[in-house]
Formats: sequence, C-alpha cells, structure tokens
Amino acid sequence: MRGFTVWFTGLPSSGKSTLARLIEKRLTDNGFHTEVLDGDEVRLRLSKGLGYSKEDRDENIRRISYVASIITRCGAIAITCAISPYRNIREEARKEIGRFVEVYVKCPVEECIKRDIKGLYKKALSGEIPNFTGISDPYEEPLKADIVVETNNETIEESSNKILSYLTKFGYLAE
Ligand SMILES: Nc1ncnc2c1ncn2[C@@H]1O[C@H](COP(=O)(O)OP(=O)(O)OP(=O)(O)O)[C@@H](O)[C@H]1O
Ligand SMILES: [Mg+2]
Repeated sequence: MRGFTVWFTGLPSSGKSTLARLIEKRLTDNGFHTEVLDGDEVRLRLSKGLGYSKEDRDENIRRISYVASIITRCGAIAITCAISPYRNIREEARKEIGRFVEVYVKCPVEECIKRDIKGLYKKALSGEIPNFTGISDPYEEPLKADIVVETNNETIEESSNKILSYLTKFGYLAE
C-alpha cells in the first residue's frame, strides 16, 4: 500500500490525541502499519529544548513533518497530533509529505477551557504560562482542511468514523 499522513491540528484540549489513538487502534487492528507522532512525546525527545516562540513552534512542526514524510515514504501511515497553529508551516508539511490528509479538530475555545485536560488553560488565563495557543498566542484555522470534525457536537465515535470514512472513500486504505 502507499503511505500517507493524517495531520491533526486544533486548539489544546480539542481532541487531537484522543482521535489519533482511536484511529491508530482501528487501523492497527485492520493490519495497517501506523505510527503516532504526538506533540507531547515529540517535545520530550525529538524537539527537546525547543520552546513556544514562533520560531521554535515552526521548528517543532518541521521536525514532525520530516519524520512523517519518512514514515509515509516507507509505505506506512503517520498520524500527527500537534497543535500546529500556523497555516504556512502546515502548508509546508503538506508539500513535503505529499499524501497528506489535514484534519481540523474544531472546538470553541470556551469548550476547550471547560475541558482543560492538562490544566494549562487555567495557568494561561492566570498569566502563569505565556504564549498559550487560543489565549495569548494565535491559532490560524485551516481554510481548506480535508476533514473537519466538530468535537463539541460529535461523539468521539462519530468524529473517528468521519475520518475513517474519508480515508476509505478516497482510496487511502486500498491495498
Ligand atoms: N468528538 C470528540 N473527539 C475527541 N475528543 C472528544 C470528543 N468529544 C469529547 N472529547 C473529549 O475532549 C478531550 C480532548 O482531549 P485531548 O487530550 O485529546 O486533546 P488534545 O487536542 O490532544 O489536546 P493537547 O493539544 O493539549 O494535547 C478528551 O477528554 C475527550 O474525551
Ligand atoms: Mg494531545
């Protein structure tokens, strides 16, 4: 099979990691070779030492894109889940990777603040963390994402089914 990358983008707590892990399980159960590059883990290893300035965020995404392009070239499926807030770097990743499915994990910031999975919105709102995406740093919405999931209106099942249906419909899962 030909490899490809599923690139999740969205605000903190929007649902990227949750969906990535579920899609990974569904694909692996069906015999597909799949690797998840999760922003949290990447920042501990591949991007250790990088911060949250625009330059460092761009560098982090370039590194993820590079690894995803290698996985894709090897005929496997790369799933990335990093906030990836800047549109131009996501477009760079699309160009580098080629077979690239951008999934916009859309959720109003108010709902993300309620979820606050890691307690970081609380810290950002109190000023303890600077440059926090959605609060004190921009998030540039995709203008033409391949798939949009609205996680405040959809169950996790519905959102993941939407993604898998797209991959099937457009031939990504063909042998
Ligand atoms: N349709 C949905 N899809 C995904 N997550 C959902 C959905 N509906 C509700 N949720 C909930 O939203 C939360 C999303 O948390 P998750 O850690 O996946 O966010 P994230 O985008 O990876 O955040 P971060 O950028 O901080 O890593 C989970 O608690 C999940 O159960
Ligand atoms: Mg996550």
